[in-house]
Amino acid sequence: MKNKHLILLLMGVLVLAIGSCVKTDHLAKREPKLPATPFHYAVQSLIAIIPPGNPYVNGNPLDSSGLDNTPPSNPTTDAGATLGRVLFYETMFSLNNSISCGSCHKQQSGFGDNVPVSLGYEGQKGTRNAIALANENMNANFFWDGRVNTLEAQTIMPVQNHKEMGMENLDNLVKKLSSASYYPALFNAAFGSPEITKQGISEALAQFMRSMHTFNTRFDQGAASGFPNFTPQELNGEATFRAMKCNSCHGGNNLDNGGMGMDHNMPSGNDWANGGLDAGFPDPGLMDVTGASSDNGAFKIPSLRNVSLTAPYMHDGRFSTLEQVVEHYNSGIAANPNLDFRLTQAFFNGTGGTTGGAPVRMNMTSQQKSDLVAFLNTLTDNSFVSDPKFADPFK
Ligand code: HEC
Ligand code: HEC
Repeated sequence: MKNKHLILLLMGVLVLAIGSCVKTDHLAKREPKLPATPFHYAVQSLIAIIPPGNPYVNGNPLDSSGLDNTPPSNPTTDAGATLGRVLFYETMFSLNNSISCGSCHKQQSGFGDNVPVSLGYEGQKGTRNAIALANENMNANFFWDGRVNTLEAQTIMPVQNHKEMGMENLDNLVKKLSSASYYPALFNAAFGSPEITKQGISEALAQFMRSMHTFNTRFDQGAASGFPNFTPQELNGEATFRAMKCNSCHGGNNLDNGGMGMDHNMPSGNDWANGGLDAGFPDPGLMDVTGASSDNGAFKIPSLRNVSLTAPYMHDGRFSTLEQVVEHYNSGIAANPNLDFRLTQAFFNGTGGTTGGAPVRMNMTSQQKSDLVAFLNTLTDNSFVSDPKFADPFK
């Protein structure tokens, strides 16, 4: 009798031990690995880190100020961005603990997604291609249609956009995050209180994304001295980029014409264009936000930084290669009433151009097209996409 009890007791202890082992193992897996001294994220001034000499700045006044959207109430600190990094890769953001921001904004893809439209919760599809995150502090409007104006507000939208992405509602999220051992210390370091709050979540994520600067490209390295670091083909590609007037839209320090906001019903911030992808309007884009029919089919002009890594391309991910994008501009621009004036024949002939005018046919030679792609490949910042301070700390 006594022995039987002892055996049962021992067995019980064993089961408990195995059980807690498994449990600790699981927790250990989800414990972020952070450096003893935090990585350095904060910068004094954005303009001080932008390499000089970008030939496409063209006197844009906002470009010379750096266009920094950091609000005085939420300056980026190393501790705040460290918390933001952990949150960015936190799978508790989704209902079934499977999706984090980093699932769709993948570092190796320049913080874009490598599928046309991102898969959300239980494989549900959205309708748009994930925007590659970089230099987010130089943006005034967020999303392809510009429906949000601050990064603080933007960061929590995917969470609230419950149906599409299966993300948690914010009160639930706060509860879930409170169950993890590592957040109180991270919140305390970032905001001086261990309490997990919605505001802290959005501010820390915004800080992390504002710290994601990407300027270490061969383009930036050669810009101030006429690109002595380029191959002859890349030099020809740069000349083609200007000759085909790509920089009239992909200009400025972030190659997105930030600050210009030309001829659209949005206050000057980012710039918008109907790029002649379709003769009709399958996605209203900016019109969803402004209500103006002249904005139908206009989308935020994306930055071309890291574009070699962010395939597939366009708001719906319709093109899988840069060659296809170039061919669209070369021969495929569709006539439509809202076609941007900068893609019309008249603009190319130097006679101004009007919205909805006849689309330009660029008639590039196959050599010019491959030169242009070679130039686009110089916009890649390999140090950015391999930098451990932006990487998944749970891995
Ligand atoms: C299921 C995939 C998915 C997840 C998860 C996701 N995103 Fe996105 N993200 C997208 C898509 C798609 C867009 C473009 C949507 C649009 O414009 O309508 C986008 C756009 C953005 C933008 C706008 C960038 C710009 O310059 O306009 C930011 C910022 C952003 N996401 C941050 C986040 C953060 C922070 C998280 C986590 C809280 C997150 N995303 C989670 C797919 C995702
Ligand atoms: C009228 C302004 C305009 C001009 C001129 C222009 N683009 Fe664009 N570009 C855009 C817009 C807007 C988009 C996004 C379109 C969409 O998704 O509907 C875009 C998208 C792109 C993309 C895909 C980026 C991504 O992340 O999906 C590339 C690459 C690109 N353009 C290269 C070029 C090149 C090369 C030229 C010159 C031959 C050029 N663009 C001329 C406005 C312009």
